[in-house]
Amino acid sequence: MVQYRQRVEAAAKHLQQRVGAPPRVGILTGTGLGESAGALTVHDSFDYGEIPHFPVSTVESHRGRLLFGDFGGVPVTIMQGRIHLYEGYSPLEVTFPIRVMRQLGVSDLILTNAAGGFDTTCRPGDIMLITDQINLTGTNALIGPNEADWGIRFPDMNQVYAPDLQALARTGAESCGIRLREGVYAGLTGPSLETPAEVRYLKAIGADAVGFSTVQEAIVAVHAGMRVLGLSILTNINDPDRPVPATVEEIIAVANQAAPRLEALIREVLRRMARRG
Ligand code: HPA
Repeated sequence: MVQYRQRVEAAAKHLQQRVGAPPRVGILTGTGLGESAGALTVHDSFDYGEIPHFPVSTVESHRGRLLFGDFGGVPVTIMQGRIHLYEGYSPLEVTFPIRVMRQLGVSDLILTNAAGGFDTTCRPGDIMLITDQINLTGTNALIGPNEADWGIRFPDMNQVYAPDLQALARTGAESCGIRLREGVYAGLTGPSLETPAEVRYLKAIGADAVGFSTVQEAIVAVHAGMRVLGLSILTNINDPDRPVPATVEEIIAVANQAAPRLEALIREVLRRMARRG
């Protein structure tokens, strides 16, 4: 079997030979958000299946394309559709694209997702800035041999979500008139949604929202020395005292509705990054 490192390098080389300017920012889009590339000037596009060793998303609401282009004046790569643990992929596979992005020169990573919120003053469709995370997936993408030139064995996790990018998101949201929520994201494997008892537990341990992605990607990005911005669309509000059934159709519909606002916010953040240099 080809070693993980060689697979990452082969995928990166394939892309490097085909794309123009190296991307500075990587953007991962999740449920219903894969279309939020409307404002991107696309220079190159690849189906995951045509990139050597790249994992292929099996979720219908995820597109499975890697785009390269210009967004808000910044060279970016956008992953339309991510890979999840619940699809049966390993943490190494889930984070393979992050390693590839790093090889391509990406220094800043924007992770977006759909999440269930716990604050009953929030409305479905609100956007939450992720300020910290709790990895409850029971695994970690850094388990196994450490590639010393990729990062250190025991990376510090005090500031997973870069304070300066959080500040850009706050000011960017203000200038677009978006009410930005803030909170801690708890990452589970899914795919079963949370019971009311699990929601009470998650609230008690300090989580403000829950979802089935993001935490592994953020861990690997920090390991690789990337700066991370996390944005959740709160597609449903989970109140354990008044539980209402959540369906994936509703979650996707709300995410789709909120996507243009998320896109506007990301564009604003990128503009500010471009200005800052
Ligand atoms: N739980 C987990 N993942 C989610 C949810 C939820 O309530 N909503 C959107 N993604």
